[in-house]
Amino acid sequence: MDLKRSGSQPSTSKDEPGDAVTYTTKELTAKTWRDFEKLFSQGNGWDFCWCIHFQRPHTLPKSEWRRTRAERGARNKREKKALVKQGRAHGILVYGKGEPLGWCQYGPKEELPRIEGNKNYRALGLNDSAKKLWRITCFVVDKKHRQCGVATVALKAALEAIRKRGGGVVEAYPIIPWEELCRARVRRCGHAPAFGNESTHGTLSMFEKQGFKKVGPYGLNNVVVRKTVTSARLDENSGSVSRSRARRSARHQRRRLQYHGARGSVSGAHRANDRPAAKPGNPAWRTVGTTAISKG
Ligand SMILES: CC(C)(COP(=O)(O)OP(=O)(O)OC[C@H]1O[C@@H](n2cnc3c(N)ncnc32)[C@H](O)[C@@H]1OP(=O)(O)O)[C@@H](O)C(=O)NCCC(=O)NCCS
Repeated sequence: MDLKRSGSQPSTSKDEPGDAVTYTTKELTAKTWRDFEKLFSQGNGWDFCWCIHFQRPHTLPKSEWRRTRAERGARNKREKKALVKQGRAHGILVYGKGEPLGWCQYGPKEELPRIEGNKNYRALGLNDSAKKLWRITCFVVDKKHRQCGVATVALKAALEAIRKRGGGVVEAYPIIPWEELCRARVRRCGHAPAFGNESTHGTLSMFEKQGFKKVGPYGLNNVVVRKTVTSARLDENSGSVSRSRARRSARHQRRRLQYHGARGSVSGAHRANDRPAAKPGNPAWRTVGTTAISKG
């Protein structure tokens, strides 16, 4: 996926104002692991996490707790790498000038089971169990490249990847509008929150712009949103169905033209004789005996 943002907006990286930056995306795989590793090893707040939190169904038992962030980080990295190798971890890496600078985690619900531990969430059960359920849980954007649309690029690429994998219902858990969140936090705790700490799920507006609808509350600061994504295979099929339908209709049209072309000369002959077609149901005709005579 390749998306350009113009340099006139705050879409350029802050170290090189005025430049147009082309963002490209790749899926996390064993091949791109190195890039993921780079993005998660830069001394940022998320470095110890390795985006594994939602891949674990529960908090680890106390016996497995580690004392330091570095120890937790080393274990999380090891586990994430193993999951990537097994094809059980999905996500989108965003690149600018070849460097990884953004990330979005997505996956089928089985890969991100931690969400189900939330009481509010359980009350918002998905009624249509026939549809495959996907989750988009986390975002990470390098601080120098924030507010340039990188997370939005990652989100669009994740939706496209889901579409290619058969689509289904996609849900996410973005934070409520920032002003609202700040006011609520000040009321509750007496101080404003920091965007960087709160925003890992992305913002509600980001998702609404991609057609997601709010379903209900998740936590105090975020909500559940959902959207149905159609399968790329279905789109292709419907594409070929409509293509063959279009071919059939063109054939039909050609035949109609040939037929009417032929009839056109016949009706011309009728007009020349100034006689309507002899049809028993035609009010222009009355029947005398067995002979049809024209009124006109
Ligand atoms: C949340 C985050 C991913 C957004 O990335 P981004 O590339 O800056 O986002 P975008 O430029 O695509 O903007 C997305 C939306 O977020 C809003 N936004 C971004 N930064 C914001 C800020 N500081 N304050 C308020 N809103 C902000 C944008 O206005 C935009 O909303 P809009 O479409 O209504 O205008 C980024 O700030 C981040 O990485 N936060 C830290 C997350 C984290 O710590 N994760 C790891 C936890 S272990």
